[in-house]
This record gives sequence, structure tokens and C-alpha cells, in this order.
Amino acid sequence: MRLESSVLALGLIHVAWSTPADPLSLPKQARNDSNDGLAYSPPVYPSPWMDPNAQGWEEAYIKARDFVSQLTLLEKVNITTGVGWMGERCVGNVGGVPRLGLRGLCMQDGPLGIRFSDYNSAFPGAITAGATFSKHLLRDRGFNMGSEHRDKGIDVMLGPALGPLGRMPLGGRDWEGFGVDPYMLGQMTGAVVEGIQNAGVVACAKHYIANEQEHFRQSGEATGYGFDIAESLSANIDDKTMHEVYNWPFVDAVHAGVGSVMCSYQQINNSYGCQNSATLNGLLKGELGFQGFVMSDWQAQHTGAASAVAGLDMTMPGDTSFNTGVSYWGSNLTLAVLNGTVPEYRLDDMAMRIMASYFKVGRTVETQPEINFSSWTRQTFGYLHPASEENWQQVNFQVDVRGNHAHHIRETAAKGTVLLKNNYDALPLKKPKFVAVVGDDAGPNIAGPNGCSDRGCLQGVNAMGWGSGTSEFPYLITPDSALQQQAIQDGTRYESVLSNYEWDKAKALVSQPDATAIVFVAADSGEGYLNVDGNMGDRKNMTLWKNGNDLIKNVSSVNPNTIVVMHTVGPVEVTEWYDNPNVTAILWAGLPGQEAGNSITDILYGKHSPGRSPFSWGPNRESYGVDVLYKPNNGKGAPQQDFTEGAFIDYRHFDKVAPNKGDEGAPIYEYGFGLSWSAFEYTDLVITPRSPQPYQPTVGQTIAAPSFGNYSDDLNEYTFPDDIRRIDQFIYPYLDTAESGEAASGDRNYGSTAEEFLPAGATDGSPQPLKAASGANGGNRQLWDVMYEVQATITNTGAAMSDEVPQLYVSLGGEGEPVRVLRGFDRIERIAPGQSVQFISQITRRDLSNWDTVSQNWVITDAPKQVWVGSSSRNLPLVGNLQ
Ligand SMILES: *[C@@H]1O[C@H](CO)[C@@H](O)[C@H](O)[C@H]1NC(C)=O
Ligand SMILES: *[C@@H]1O[C@H](CO)[C@@H](O)[C@H](O)[C@H]1NC(C)=O
Ligand SMILES: *[C@@H]1O[C@H](CO)[C@@H](O)[C@H](O)[C@H]1NC(C)=O
Ligand SMILES: *[C@@H]1O[C@H](CO)[C@@H](O)[C@H](O)[C@H]1NC(C)=O
Ligand SMILES: *[C@@H]1O[C@H](CO)[C@@H](O)[C@H](O)[C@H]1NC(C)=O
Ligand SMILES: *[C@@H]1O[C@H](CO)[C@@H](O)[C@H](O)[C@H]1NC(C)=O
Ligand SMILES: *[C@@H]1O[C@H](CO)[C@@H](O)[C@H](O)[C@H]1NC(C)=O
Ligand SMILES: *[C@@H]1O[C@H](CO)[C@@H](O)[C@H](O)[C@H]1NC(C)=O
Ligand SMILES: *[C@@H]1O[C@H](CO)[C@@H](O)[C@H](O)[C@H]1NC(C)=O
Ligand SMILES: *[C@@H]1O[C@H](CO)[C@@H](O)[C@H](O)[C@H]1NC(C)=O
Repeated sequence: MRLESSVLALGLIHVAWSTPADPLSLPKQARNDSNDGLAYSPPVYPSPWMDPNAQGWEEAYIKARDFVSQLTLLEKVNITTGVGWMGERCVGNVGGVPRLGLRGLCMQDGPLGIRFSDYNSAFPGAITAGATFSKHLLRDRGFNMGSEHRDKGIDVMLGPALGPLGRMPLGGRDWEGFGVDPYMLGQMTGAVVEGIQNAGVVACAKHYIANEQEHFRQSGEATGYGFDIAESLSANIDDKTMHEVYNWPFVDAVHAGVGSVMCSYQQINNSYGCQNSATLNGLLKGELGFQGFVMSDWQAQHTGAASAVAGLDMTMPGDTSFNTGVSYWGSNLTLAVLNGTVPEYRLDDMAMRIMASYFKVGRTVETQPEINFSSWTRQTFGYLHPASEENWQQVNFQVDVRGNHAHHIRETAAKGTVLLKNNYDALPLKKPKFVAVVGDDAGPNIAGPNGCSDRGCLQGVNAMGWGSGTSEFPYLITPDSALQQQAIQDGTRYESVLSNYEWDKAKALVSQPDATAIVFVAADSGEGYLNVDGNMGDRKNMTLWKNGNDLIKNVSSVNPNTIVVMHTVGPVEVTEWYDNPNVTAILWAGLPGQEAGNSITDILYGKHSPGRSPFSWGPNRESYGVDVLYKPNNGKGAPQQDFTEGAFIDYRHFDKVAPNKGDEGAPIYEYGFGLSWSAFEYTDLVITPRSPQPYQPTVGQTIAAPSFGNYSDDLNEYTFPDDIRRIDQFIYPYLDTAESGEAASGDRNYGSTAEEFLPAGATDGSPQPLKAASGANGGNRQLWDVMYEVQATITNTGAAMSDEVPQLYVSLGGEGEPVRVLRGFDRIERIAPGQSVQFISQITRRDLSNWDTVSQNWVITDAPKQVWVGSSSRNLPLVGNLQ
């Protein structure tokens, strides 16, 4: 499972430990390049240390303090540094503390289930889970996934994904998140993080931050595709947009107590995500008060000391690039602390953050379970250290961790299927006479459900995208098999043509009398290291794959009851056929996971209610106003991606440029849209103001940086111990020689002091002023004060029982603000015909605030503000003013 496209050169371009005479080796923030014309990220130092009184972390802090105080310098370094790619059984492993009984922590992908394993579940892609708009299903998802990770011995689950947010509809990994609205994404993230951590596993919110596309995220990967660039893409975002859009969901992750955050590959304002002090020190740790640890994405670290003082706490997978056997940290970090380059308190803080997160989720050193699988083999025996092919032993115990999660998976994917069109009561199906299914997407991959590595192909039903955010299917129910089962039960005649390229046969089938034709089509995307049919992660177009449009047009030209089911990673162009009267129903079934066939059958036959679209369906890719950057635009330098549209993505953009149906570029189906099985009336909007205390900026200072334990400066204590057999390529904390720092570090010059090559303030451990907007659980706690309670009555005026998803939007008002933004939603289940229910939603101070770049704080502007309640971002029958 080596990723061939990965880089060789990363470590050579950004040498962490080179001499101060070479300015190019310095992190961008240490030089002042604000006059080179490119976006610039200001230095923010020192890196904030943990707050012993942070709410929810007090107990974890005490346990971590007690543990870390016992550690030697080498042991602290050990738990911050990965042992190298394929060094042990998990996709990421740090060193352990054998002396105290702690094995190295195990980090494993990912956001829809365990990757590289067996007897695990394959959950729906996050985009489908998001489409349920159900927080309780998301909490269950987190708990179920967390349990599976826990039972394999995994300590940190590498999910959820909330970056990409979904700025561009063709972004390759958009489907790994719950939807494109920051508020909705934040709410879902909070629920899933709680669930994961309640199961006793540390969650990891990723990728921090602005990791919106796959192209150019790593210069090495791009070079592999023939692009001649030396630096990764820079996402250039202004401070206001950063706060109001991209950072927003991370606030909810921190508020929910997330234990870890993964920094991203690409740069932000021309400073790499894993050494950007403005985002890591400033925003995440300083303003949001994040108490957990920051780990690098795999090979996203580019410097040693610079990344340490910029806020990175753990390097993954530990080697500079895969299988080099050397590290920016490990022995380099040991030396850097010994030399006073990286302050001792910073290393102590890294160790504290890692251990506090570990203890926070209820783990203890005494009860740490064994890892009982290996990422690198499905067999029982394998190498414990696959990179060096050492220690052949039992590595996989084939432990079945699936529990009864199939039920949850089936329900989520059904409730996350969106009914976009339903004419003449085409759905739900009621014992139809004859069902004729057409399309490759209804059937199996003949190479098996896991036939393509990391799901890097589109064969058969598209039940997940591709990349590291996938898992192996334990089985995959195809639509064809589930629909056939249902047909047999109902006495329905059933036939299928499981190909997009057998038109003569398909035509002969669907043109028969009484045929209910169901056409299955798909579009796929994934992570950038795999190129599937010319899609380098990001999609290259917004059309259906495999002539899907033609297939739908062909079927609907001869069949008057054509039902379209789309398994796609995001929006596709539907303009050529969506309003054809023969297309009686359209379903977006997203990425349903292992129960794909059962879930779609449950919806087609009305056993569950459908969900709502977590993104807009623009008429074409141009209509979104922003697109993936497919060609480098800065010579060999970092491609520059300017987020000039600010907050205007997805519905905020469409509401601005095409507010009315029929306007050119207006969405065909808007954000939040989806039909139910009934009709609902919205009445009686009641807005009740609450009177919280006036907002006070946070004041005061942090404590001085604490240190935990001592270390000796005798280099002899740090050399490789005689009683350990050295494993090839394995990353250790030890020095090669005690002769001198210089010799120990290879041929690097350590004759410098920190001041000479780290940015000003980087090593300062004195008490630091608190930021006005800061607080220990996502920011100033008054941001969660309730300002208004909004209530509305929803009545089922139709004839069927159905779920409804009421949505609340507000306008913040003023120049340059979106028409409205989502600030509340709920999924109210099983409302009977004639029944009325109450939708109640609280609007917090945070919900009504804008980011003020001058005061660097949240403010509620004087602009008039309104609230809307309805069933989608464009169907909002209730409106009122907020005083
Ligand atoms: C960088 O340069 C700009 C303009 O020359 C200046 O305003 C800013 O304060 C400098 N920043 C640092 C960190 O030196
Ligand atoms: C990026 O640059 C913009 C424009 O100067 C600035 O508003 C923003 O705060 C910067 N963000 C970071 C993380 O450096
Ligand atoms: C560092 O971790 C490795 C791997 O777990 C272990 O073999 C080694 O003993 C650890 N070193 C120290 C100093 O604890
Ligand atoms: C995994 O299975 C092995 C062997 O049965 C067991 O020793 C270990 O404790 C299990 N791990 C977990 C997390 O249950
Ligand atoms: C220390 O880091 C440098 C890269 O900056 C690398 O060349 C060297 O091999 C590293 N040392 C070890 C022991 O990993
Ligand atoms: C869009 O990309 C897909 C997948 O690579 C391909 O099957 C399809 O033909 C492309 N569509 C167009 C219009 O080029
Ligand atoms: C659509 O029908 C035309 C003939 O009318 C045929 O040539 C073409 O291959 C069909 N395409 C698909 C995808 O069914
Ligand atoms: C709808 O289907 C009928 C066959 O039942 C066909 O004659 C007609 O042309 C189709 N209409 C459209 C708009 O495709
Ligand atoms: C640190 O050093 C002091 C003084 O040498 C000693 O009293 C103390 O026990 C040491 N603490 C640890 C954890 O080694
Ligand atoms: C690095 O630190 C060690 C331990 O303090 C010291 O012996 C060595 O001389 C230092 N290296 C340089 C080049 O200063």
C-alpha cells in the first residue's frame, strides 16, 4: 500500500536544521515576505501551552501532568514522533514508553470506518450522513465507529473531516465532510466527535485548514502528475472569511472537546499548514483554546524546530517522507531541546497535550488494549515492522468489531437519500408489476467490492469515494440484489441490465409495457494520490460518469416512468433530463456504504423518509462561481488560490447572483432541499428574546509555561541503548553519537542559538495576554449565550406519515453580507397526517456575530437582522425580525 506518487524531495526543499545563513530554510513567517506581492501569514508566537483549568480538561490535565512528569526527555520525544511509514501496524504509530507500560499510540483512518482492516463496517460517506440532517444519527455514527476503532486497539481515529468544507463542488474530498454549510458542518461535527470520544477513542478533526482541493496539495504529488512546481498550493484567505466560514466548524469540534486536530498539506497565505503559527498558535490554540494535540498530515511536516514552535505536537508518520528512515523530529528534536533551540516547555506541552487527550476519553495506561489487526495484511501472520520486514509474528487476530452497526448504516443511508423529484406519486413503490433496472451502478464490481485499492475505481455501485478516507467492505449489498429480493417478496417481475453499454438489451427491457424503469448512475472522486480516469482526486467535470446522461435520456425516451438514482460524491449536471416528464422521480443516494442496496430499497418503497441536500445543485460547474485550480498559476512557485469570493460559496453565492427561480445560474435544487412523503405547513413563528449579560472580551494572562520533569545535559544518556536491536528505517529518539550535537545530527551545524533562526518570541515562556475572543472550549464562552428562542408550528397537511427537516436562517445584515445563513435545523421524525409539532431553535450570540478584524473579536452589528424558517434555503414561508 505504498503511495508511489509521494514525494522524495520534500525534506530537501525545506531543511529544518540547516544553518541560519541560508534564509530559504527558514519558515516563511520568520522572514518577512509581505512585500513579495504574495499573501503573507503573520508570525504568532509563542505557542500556547495547556490551561490547567480548561473546562472539561481539568481531570485529564492532572492525569497527564502526573504521567508526563515521570518521563525522560527521550520518552517525551518518543510519544511525539511517528516511528516511520509502515514502521508498525497502524497507518500512524508513535513511540511508546515501555518503562511505564505505555505502548505507542495507534492512529488509523478514517472518517467512514476503519481503513486497511477486516471484520469492520463500511459506513456511509459523511456527505450521506450529513444529508440526514439528524444529529442523533451522527452521534450514533460517531459512537459506532469509535467502538470499532476501540475494539481493534486503535487510540486515535482519523476523523471526522471538516476541511475541505466544499468550497468547490468538484473538490475531490468534499464527500468526506457532512456538507458545505459551516454551521451545519459544525453541528454534525460536534455530534460525531462526542460519539467517537464517548466510545473511548480520540477523534481527529481534519484537515486544518483550507484544504479545499487535491491538485497541488503536495508539490511532490503534483510533480508525479507532471506539474513542475516546487511548493504546495497556498490557500489565501482573509481573516473575516477564515473566521466566519472555514474555521467555523473547527470551533464546534473544539467545543465538543475533540482530542486532536490534523494540520493540512497545503499552505495558508504561503506558510505550510503544519508550521503556520497564525493558524496553529494564533487561531486554534490561542483563540479557540484547543487543549488537544496537533498532528501533521502524512508528510505534511516540512521543518523541525520551526514546526515545533509553530504549534505542531506530533509528526506523522514520523519520517521526513515515506521510508527515508530519518525524521525532522525523533533524534533531531531531542538535540534541539538539548541545545535550547526548542524550549523544554514546548516539548513538555506536546507530551501533555497528547497524554491529556488520551486520558480525556477514558483511557488509562494500565488498561491499554493490544492492537489486534495490521494495516498491512489480511493474513494472520505478518511483519510487525513491515517497512524493514522485521519481526514476523501474528499481527492480525481477525477480531469482528461490527456489532449490530449494519442496522445504523442501513438507516442512515436511507434517511440520507434525497428525493429531488417525485411526480405522479411515482414513489414510494407499492408492489409494482414489473421493475426493470438499468446501469452499472446497480450491480457489483466483478473484481469484488474491495477489488480496487482504496476504492480507486468506479465499478458497480458507488458506495464510497476513493482514497485514505475509505474502508474495506465486509460485504456490499448491491441495489440489484436488494431490489430483486423485494420484488420476489411482492410478486413483482424483476430484470436488470447491469451495464451502461448494452443499450439494445436495456431498450428491449424498459420499453415493455408496465415497466417501472430504475436507472442507476454515478460520479466519483477521492484523494489526490490516485488518478481515476483522469480525475486526480478532484473531479475534472460535473457530469455523470460512463455516459450516465445518455443512459437516462435513452431510457426516458422509451419509458414513461423512469426513476433516476444517482450515487454521486456531490452535485452533477442534471439539466439535460431532470424536467423530462418521463423522468418521474430523481433520487440522490450519495455514498451509502455497505448496505447500499437495502438503503435505496427502503427509500424506494417508503420504509424510511428521505433527507435533504447538503449542497446546491447548480445548473453547471460555472454557476458556482469558484472552481478547482487545475493548472499552476505561479511558475514553479506555490500555486496561489485566492478565496476572493469570501463567504459567497454554495447557496450564499446563488442567493446573491441568482436569487429567484428562473434567474440565469439559479440552482435547480437548492441547499437544504428535498421532498418528503407528505406536505407540511409552517405557521406561528414566535421569537422570544433572552437577555444574556453583555459580551465581555476575555482579559488577563495565561500562566507561565510549565515544565514537567528534568533532563540531564550529558549526551551519553541519549545515545542508542545497547540492549535494543535497531530496526531499519525505524525512527527513534536517540542520538547516534555522544560526541557532539553536530556529529549526532548528521552533518548539520548546531552552532546557532534559537534567537538566530527562530522567529521573535518563539521561545518565550512568560505569561501571555489572552485574546479578547478566546476561551478554552472554542472561544469566549459568552459566544454560546442564547439571544433568542425561535419556535414554529409544523403541520402535516398531506396523507402520509413522514419526517420533516425544518431549517432556520438568519440575515446578519449590512454591506457585503450573505442574504441569509443557516443557523438552526432539526429532523423531526414520523409526523402523522394532521399532526402538528413544534420546531424550537436557539440562536446564540455566536450565531448573530460577525468577525471584526479591527478589534479581533466577534461583534453583533447594528444592521437589521431577520430570521426565516422553512423547509429549504429557498422555501422559507415564515419570516420575522430580530430586535
Ligand atoms: C512585515 O513587513 C510589513 C511591511 O513591510 C510590516 O508592516 C510588518 O510589521 C512586518 N512584520 C514583521 C513580523 O516583521
Ligand atoms: C492571510 O492574509 C490575509 C490578508 O492579508 C489576512 O487577512 C489573514 O489574516 C491572513 N491569514 C493567515 C492565517 O495568515
Ligand atoms: C521509543 O519507542 C519505541 C517503540 O515503541 C521503543 O522501542 C523504545 O524503547 C522507546 N524509547 C524509549 C526511550 O522509551
Ligand atoms: C484484540 O484481540 C486480542 C487477541 O484476542 C486481544 O489480546 C486484545 O486485547 C484485543 N484488543 C482489543 C482492543 O480488544
Ligand atoms: C535531522 O533532520 C535532517 C533534515 O532536516 C535530516 O537530514 C537528518 O537525517 C535528521 N536526523 C535524523 C537522525 O533523523
Ligand atoms: C467526465 O468525467 C468522467 C469520468 O472521468 C467521464 O466518464 C466523462 O466522460 C466526462 N464527461 C465529459 C463530458 O467529458
Ligand atoms: C443511447 O442510444 C443511442 C442510440 O439511440 C446509442 O447509440 C447509445 O449508445 C445509447 N447510449 C447509452 C449510454 O445508452
Ligand atoms: C416518453 O415516453 C414515451 C414512451 O412511453 C415516448 O413516446 C415519449 O417520446 C417520451 N417522452 C419524452 C419527452 O421523452
Ligand atoms: C528534578 O531535579 C531536582 C533537582 O535536581 C530533583 O530534586 C527532582 O527530583 C528532579 N525531578 C525529576 C522528576 O527528576
Ligand atoms: C548541542 O547540544 C549539546 C548538548 O548540550 C552540546 O554538547 C553540543 O555542543 C551542541 N551542539 C552545538 C553545535 O552547539
